[in-house]
Formats: sequence, C-alpha cells, structure tokens
Amino acid sequence: MSAIKWPSDGKYLGDWKKGEKVAQGGRGLTWRDKITAVNGGNCYNCHQIDPSFNSYGTLGPSLAGYGKLRGVTDPNSPAAQAVVKYTWGKIWNSRAYNACSNMPRAGTNGVLTQDQVRDLVALLLDPNSPVNK
Ligand code: HEC
Repeated sequence: MSAIKWPSDGKYLGDWKKGEKVAQGGRGLTWRDKITAVNGGNCYNCHQIDPSFNSYGTLGPSLAGYGKLRGVTDPNSPAAQAVVKYTWGKIWNSRAYNACSNMPRAGTNGVLTQDQVRDLVALLLDPNSPVNK
C-alpha cells in the first residue's frame, strides 16, 4: 500500500474519453518506442471494458458496468470515495491488493502518469462513460 502514490491534488477523476484511449493503447516500453513517447495502459489486453468494443483479453475479470455494479451514481460523492480510491490504488499498484496479481503495476512501475490514471478511473466510474451504460 505504501507504494501507491495518491493524486497530488486530491483529484481522482479525469476525462473518460481520454481514458478509453489509454485503455486501448498498447504502445510503450518496447525497443521500437521512443523513451519520451506516451505509454498506453494495455488494459483491453486482459479486460473487457466498454462492452461495444469487441476485442479484449480475458485474463482479468470483465470491467463492463464497473461503476454501476458498485452502485456509483456520482463518483464525486462522499459515498463513492472508497470505490474511487480502491480503483486508483488498484491501477497504480495492483499488488497492494493481491500480492500475486497478474496485473501490471501501472503507477509503481512508471508506465502511466497521474493524469492517465485519472482518465482511467473516470472511464471505469463516470456514469456517462460507455462502461456504465
Ligand atoms: C496482464 C493482464 C492485465 C492487464 C494488462 C491489466 N489488468 Fe487489471 N486485472 C488483471 C487481473 C488478473 C485482475 C484480477 C486479479 C487481481 O485482483 O489482481 C485485474 C483486476 C483489475 C481491477 C479490479 C477489479 C475488481 O473487481 O476489483 C481493476 C479495476 C483493473 N484490473 C483495471 C485495469 C486497468 C484500468 C488496466 C489498464 C491500465 C488493467 N487493469 C490492466 C489483469 C490485468
């Protein structure tokens, strides 16, 4: 848990439209990628996320309906904070919650930026995101 860096300004939620691009993006950290290039999250490699996007891996559980299934109608409300923080922490350092997780540690390993994680949290929890339609 101590390896999780929480958002410096306390803002957990970004833009779900950008989050969808981060989730679909699989580039980064290979010998062909420039060291300064923006990395993708590669999330669809293991997860279903937007149910209308029909190419995804199944190593991880489906995240379709992620916010809705957890009763999140307003991710900014106090009632949603536990789910919001868990989602950030899980993406930042998956092993904080499951020591043997197969999920890459996007924050701890420096793959994604805080802004990219914000956009992913919004993708999973914003009621307007296609994930929760
Ligand atoms: C290599 C496969 C893999 C990739 C890539 C991956 N995940 Fe995961 N993810 C998993 C697995 C396996 C689990 C379930 C086991 C666990 O809890 O660690 C999981 C669990 C989760 C959970 C918790 C679900 C719950 O019900 O508690 C969230 C949220 C999540 N992933 C989001 C993401 C996001 C966002 C990305 C992209 C940045 C991503 N994952 C990339 C494999 C992956």
